[in-house]
Parts: sequence; structure tokens; C-alpha cells
Amino acid sequence: MRTVHVRATSKEYDVLIGKDAVKELGSEAKKLCPGALKVLIVSETNVASLYLEKVESQLKEAGFETHSYVFEAGEKSKNINEIAGMWNKMAEAGFTRTDFVAGLGGGVTTDMAGFAAATFLRGIKVIQIPTSLLAMVDASVGGKTGIDIPMGKNQVGAFWQPSVVIEDVSFLKTLPDEVFTEGMGEVTKHAFIMDTELLEKLEKCAGNIREDEDVLEEIVAMNVADKASVVSEDENDNGRRQTLNFGHTVGHVIERDSGFTKPHGICVAKGMGIIIDACVREGSLKAEDAKRMKDLLKLYGLPSDDEITPEEIIAGAMNDKKKRGNTISVILVNKIGNAEIRKMTKEEFLKFLSV
Ligand code: GLY
Repeated sequence: MRTVHVRATSKEYDVLIGKDAVKELGSEAKKLCPGALKVLIVSETNVASLYLEKVESQLKEAGFETHSYVFEAGEKSKNINEIAGMWNKMAEAGFTRTDFVAGLGGGVTTDMAGFAAATFLRGIKVIQIPTSLLAMVDASVGGKTGIDIPMGKNQVGAFWQPSVVIEDVSFLKTLPDEVFTEGMGEVTKHAFIMDTELLEKLEKCAGNIREDEDVLEEIVAMNVADKASVVSEDENDNGRRQTLNFGHTVGHVIERDSGFTKPHGICVAKGMGIIIDACVREGSLKAEDAKRMKDLLKLYGLPSDDEITPEEIIAGAMNDKKKRGNTISVILVNKIGNAEIRKMTKEEFLKFLSV
């Protein structure tokens, strides 16, 4: 078992990573949620059929009264109606401020469980139990919670740090290949913006990190350590944390324009590819670095291009959360392992994408 500690300003907590890490759930919950009697396990249909019983029994054995809220799997469920369903379930069951929520699932689930916890009774504790690669390396760590609205992804939410994150890498065995590949979008992002050691390791694994659970555990832990270091420095996304948005400004537009049918990690990979190409064209990134990054995306089955036009990107990006006043912070990589935050006006961003 590996432990990565997150030192966010509002809260410090551990991320436990390992095979059978879920066995720690009961004792962690007892330790971290003193006075809790009840827990709402938030999950979705696919994950619940595989792991809900296991998680429920861990929490029951630890003495908690368990309730569950299971929503239809998919990004389409990431809306206020489902959150209201969670609030109502907790209110009807008589939850108090010492009770807690457990998010069991991928990024959609951990974002929604966190948001329900952040808002119910003005905030109760949440334990995150991510089951997808994307949620393990990114979504469940760092306290970003929320929902989508028709105008954009994650447009409503709160920063709400978990009490602990339990990452059982054995859960990844049942993850469909395409969902695992999607998670690699965020893994490669960490390598590109801040971690050359991770990049080299991924290259060495030649496109397959699933075969060996020890390697997988190590790679997940490297990513969590990367994320933890960024969040510990800038919890509220005012500085360095914005570098984690590499590929996201463009990726979110592609994702939203598809009606949230294209997977997030795939759209991020496309967004990274589009920005990488633009950096090479403007001369801020060497062609050989760009090739190495795009080769890595390909090695892990990820795309690096899309038919979206610069005009469509601009139209969609201008209501992005990364916009401040009339400028948007675009994340560039000017050298492997080194990200730059560049503020651009709409016109500058269009020119950057079009040259
Ligand atoms: N997923 C980007 C962040 O947590 O800031």
C-alpha cells in the first residue's frame, strides 16, 4: 500500500493506493468521521453492480447505517436533479452534520458525491473511492466537485476536499478498455506538464500498463503525487493548478459540442494535440518534443487531433471557467515537463490557433 499526503490549505488528507485498499475503508471512516452514524454511498449503475455490496459491507461492519443513491451511468446524469435526489435521500434518512457521503465510481460520481456533501447541511464529510483510472489520478484528488449545465461542463460546483481517498487498483481490472484509455488522457497530461520520469516510464511500458498490477499501482501513485503537489501549492486554482487544464480548454468545447457523448479523457487528448501543434507553429515548442508527446498519445491509443475549427473553439471557450474578464488562461507546454500559463484575449487565442 502506498500513501500520498495532500496538504491543501483547507484540509490535509491521505490518498491510499494499493491492491485491496478498500479493506481500509471501515477503519478509515471510523477514524476520520467520529460521531458519524450514517453514510450515503453515491454510485452509478455499472459500478454499483460490481462493487456496491463490497463497500456497503465494509461500512456496515464498521458500524455505520448505510444508504445508497445509484444513478444512471454517464455524463448525462451529472446534473442538479441527481444532486437533489441525494439531498432528499439524506434528509429523509435523517442525516446530521456528523454523517458522511462516500463516492464510489468514476469522475462523474466522485464530482457529484463531493458536491452533494459540500452542499448538504452546508457541508458534511466525503470519502472518495474512485474506481476508474481517470478518477484515481485526477478527479477524486484535489476537491473539485460539481455538475454540468447545458452551457458547459463543471460550471457549477465547489471546492470540497475529501477526508480520505481510497484507491483500490484491483477495481481497474473490470474497467472496459476504452474507459481505461480515457484515463490515460490525464496520465499523459501529468507527464507532459510536469513529470519527465513518468513520461519515460510510460514510454518504457510500450502502451501497456495494465498487465502488471505493481506497475499500475506505481504509475497511479506517481500521478497522485503530481496532483497532490499542485493542489498543495494552489488549492483554489489561482495559479499553478491551472496548468492541470492543459488540453482542457479545447477539450471541454469538443466534449460539450458532442452533447457530452465523447469521453472527457479522449477530448483532453485531442485538446492537447491541438495546442501542441499550435505551439510548434508559433515556435514555442520544438518539433521533436511535440513528436514525442504525440507518439506517446498514440502508443496509449489516444487521438491528438479533431475536426473542430479555431472559430468553434473560440465560441465555446469564451464561457470557460478559465476566463477572467476578457482574457482566458491557455495552458501551453513549451518543453516536455514544463507548462506555461498564457493569458490571451479572444483575438490572440484565435490567432494562436490559426497561424
Ligand atoms: N482536474 C483539474 C484539477 O483538479 O484542477
